Amino acid sequence: MDIDWAGLRASAYEAMLKAYAPYSRFPVGAAGWDGSAISIGCNLENVSYGLGLCAECVLAGNHRTRGGARLIAVSVCDSRGEILLPCGRCRQVLYEFGGKELLVDHPTGPVPLGDLLRDAFGPDDLAAGRT
Ligand code: THU
Repeated sequence: MDIDWAGLRASAYEAMLKAYAPYSRFPVGAAGWDGSAISIGCNLENVSYGLGLCAECVLAGNHRTRGGARLIAVSVCDSRGEILLPCGRCRQVLYEFGGKELLVDHPTGPVPLGDLLRDAFGPDDLAAGRT
């Protein structure tokens, strides 16, 4: 499937401009594509620092509430529009909605999420260990 990475990056940049990041002053934007539409998210910080939400988490919530399908591609950027790799927690959050095949934008070319989060904890592990 053809992925419009330039369009996805532009959407991530637009989302970054909406970021609420008065504490870190590090605005982040994220955009995800499911094969038919783009969902976006920006980081939302909080005066109680630990409560801040990363752009990818907001993207995941927006995507879900929009009724989006499984994510195929994601791009994240900083205030300069430079590609940013999702933090560890966000890799797991994205894994839930795109799995190991999800393509994540990277300066050297898109990489599958499975390469960024090897041997990830997933639904199969949960099913296997349940009592
Ligand atoms: N941040 C994200 O939104 N996504 C990431 O993957 C890395 C970090 C945000 C969290 C915080 O608001 C700011 O960047 C500085 O860490």
